[in-house]
Amino acid sequence: MASFPKRTHTCGALRRSDIGKTVTLNGWVDTRRDLGGVIFVDLRDRYGKTQVVFNPQHDADAHDVAGGLRSEYVISVTGRVELRPEGTANPDLETGDVDVMATSLMVLNKAETPPFPIDDKVEAGEDLRLKYRYLDLRRPALQRNFIVRHRMYHVTHNYFDEHGFIEIETPVLMKSTPEGARDYLVPSRMHRGKFYALPQSPQTYKQILMVSGFDRYVQIVKCFRDEDLRADRQPEFTQIDLEMSFVDESDIQEIVEGLMQRMFKEIKGIDIRVPFPRLTYKEAIETYGSDKPDTRFGLKFFCVDDLVRGCGFRVFADMLAKGGVVAGFVVPAGASFTRNQMDNLVDYTKSLGAGGLVYFKWTEQGVESIVEKFLGKPLMEAIARAMGARQGDLILLVSDMWGKAYTILGALRLEMARRMNLVDESKNELLWVTEFPMFEWSAEEKRHVFMHHPFTSPHPDDVGILESDPGKARARAYDLVLNGNEIAGGSIRIHDSALQSTVFRLLGIEEEEAQRKFGFLLNAFKYGAPPHGGIAFGFDRIAMILTGMKSIRDVIAFPKTASAVSLMDEAPGEVDEKQLRELHIRVV
Ligand code: AMO
Repeated sequence: MASFPKRTHTCGALRRSDIGKTVTLNGWVDTRRDLGGVIFVDLRDRYGKTQVVFNPQHDADAHDVAGGLRSEYVISVTGRVELRPEGTANPDLETGDVDVMATSLMVLNKAETPPFPIDDKVEAGEDLRLKYRYLDLRRPALQRNFIVRHRMYHVTHNYFDEHGFIEIETPVLMKSTPEGARDYLVPSRMHRGKFYALPQSPQTYKQILMVSGFDRYVQIVKCFRDEDLRADRQPEFTQIDLEMSFVDESDIQEIVEGLMQRMFKEIKGIDIRVPFPRLTYKEAIETYGSDKPDTRFGLKFFCVDDLVRGCGFRVFADMLAKGGVVAGFVVPAGASFTRNQMDNLVDYTKSLGAGGLVYFKWTEQGVESIVEKFLGKPLMEAIARAMGARQGDLILLVSDMWGKAYTILGALRLEMARRMNLVDESKNELLWVTEFPMFEWSAEEKRHVFMHHPFTSPHPDDVGILESDPGKARARAYDLVLNGNEIAGGSIRIHDSALQSTVFRLLGIEEEEAQRKFGFLLNAFKYGAPPHGGIAFGFDRIAMILTGMKSIRDVIAFPKTASAVSLMDEAPGEVDEKQLRELHIRVV
């Protein structure tokens, strides 16, 4: 038996059709206004708000109690649903046509004054919001995000079920899976000096499941990575992880495109076109300076090597002689930038590590630049025309080695889009970036490191150059990009233990180390591993984009700060000496 009058309706339910009914609502006091002796309370729960009216002429007792109500008190109120008087309906509230005329009121719990108002319009500092996350989560805007997130789980489960996938849970206490980040380690009490690692991803397990014949696996799964945090990164985050057997890239991409189509339709009511455009990694870098290009605006790059080869400008000529590139992009209507704005842009480009920024303005006097004395007007005009510029435009050029030049241009492109407000936020642009390099050179470690993970299959045309020219070898790896965010990454895997051993060797992982770390996987591959591949989505990142948030913290109920702290429960925390002793650990 409840010790209070239980709700007959939620605070978002009442409409004109309920007029005349006696109802009970339970919820939190959002606001209380006292108008000439009549008290108005907006009562809130996760379904909405309803205005409750306490009129001393209706019920003097309830009115008296209502006089003591404060924000965030939890109450149960009973009364009659009435049409609001002419001219007082609130079109912003779904319940805005009606009032509840209270006849009884019970305070179920009092509340201290919250450290910030529970109001979407008030932006309290994020640290304060995270410390009192339970109050922050009462805000309707945040609650909406979690309702979207909940629906995303449903869409995902339904979609994969319909496509014959089986959801299988993989361990959280496991051996390390390399995804390029640091592991979170869990010391073993039973095995002195030994540690479990929390999964950076279930990569090895899902491959083993393919060896076991499960054929189509999916899991919505927590992953843990001890890495530097940003707006789109958390130390623990959620993946939609999948793996398929007897497939190539196109099968996985088709499944993924179907999921995205379903997700956008069911969550946002938006039809998105499939298949998504595909760009190779090389094309993405040479066109947008990024392996996760935002294609919602233009500013595409042009390489002008052939035009400037042998020109009189030493900066360009020397860079080309060294094997570098000269490339840039046109900023439409950018010729009107002031001297000050241009100086600022040059400084910004230098802050990215560029030696400088060459720019031409195409004005009524033709193409002009301070490097005119080296390049000559005819060549400058030829470059501007070749790049598709017109009078009124600004042309930006950077010369450097391939990777660096395009990285700088990529950052400059995003900065120009920001400054000129070129991004159409209503657009949703999905695309595949394919043929990632197998390896990248780590200047720090002075060796090749894997770009995706060490189980990724090399491109069939590049197996021959794996050993002779590893930097050039392409992988059968692909990323899915949405509005400039990497939302998923995957690959076709190596299913041959000999090739896997070669790749380990190239990564500087010795036979003994490979056996120690991944012996179980190499062994599994000896017993009939099917060709297989897969992908994993960053679930939080998709939720962030679908809810229009700027940070994944807004779609994670209890996120950590940039320094990996949970301000509410103060994790990580200290532990007892006894616990440490049991774990054979001494803090030094
Ligand atoms: P990857 O490392 O690319 O691939 O991860 C897949 C996707 O997970 C998201 N993601 C993150 N989201 C929030 N916080 C983080 N710290 C974080 N790190 C990654 C990204 C990314 O695209 N096992 C492979 C997948 C495979 O090959 O099948 C993997 O984990 O959106």
